[in-house]
Amino acid sequence: MSVTPRQLIKWKQQGKSIIALTAWDYSFAQVLDEAGVDIILVGDSLAMVALGYSTTLPVTLDQMIYHADAVSRAVNRALVVCDLPFLSYQESLTKAINSAGRVLKETQAGAIKIEGGYPRVIEIVAELTTMGIPVMGHVGLTPQSVRLLGYKQQGKTIDEADRILDEAIALSQAGVFAIILEHIPSELAATITARLPIPTIGIGAGTKCDGQILVTADLLGLSQTIPPFAKSYVNLRQILKNAVQEFTDEVLNYQFPQD
Ligand code: KIV
Repeated sequence: MSVTPRQLIKWKQQGKSIIALTAWDYSFAQVLDEAGVDIILVGDSLAMVALGYSTTLPVTLDQMIYHADAVSRAVNRALVVCDLPFLSYQESLTKAINSAGRVLKETQAGAIKIEGGYPRVIEIVAELTTMGIPVMGHVGLTPQSVRLLGYKQQGKTIDEADRILDEAIALSQAGVFAIILEHIPSELAATITARLPIPTIGIGAGTKCDGQILVTADLLGLSQTIPPFAKSYVNLRQILKNAVQEFTDEVLNYQFPQD
């Protein structure tokens, strides 16, 4: 059975940790789904890990849909969530509705994610959820604001922490079914998690969130550098290089193919 937004909220109530990872193509999505990941996020981080950009800003809605289509075709169980990319929703409510609608019409994704918790985003979330479009929120470090905020930890001062808590509460009241907390102090993440009826999914936000997410390229050791809060569980870059080297050696030595 597929994971639904309602199921995620039930898991929070039952104290079951939620497992989330990113994916950008069919093969990796299939592996993650078979491994039992609950949420597969087609994150706009694919701009960096799959398309080679230095930030998430350049990726387009068409590109997100292309990747979400491939990922969602691979997935049987996990909830597939697709990021709305930079400037595909901030400009106006109409633009947000069109962008979210395109994702749901042109892919099998079950939900969209948008960044930020300022008043216009709250208005957009309220409208989308009223229309029956499941929305995931994302506060703290929001990479689409990199030009303003950089990649540094957010919520370190009392004012900043209060603002992030208020944003999370407002997003929850506007109807998001879950919220990503990125790179904020663990005490702040714990406070938000205790205050909200919906699950929090942490990345660089400590142990007290209802679930955890990583960028899969970081987890697998494919990224050249990883953020300080991430962890690589395998050095796939080296494993792949070794395989390519072995193939190269065998071809050069006429050992592959064999007659
Ligand atoms: O785009 C992404 O991969 C994300 C995660 C970092 C949560 O938003």
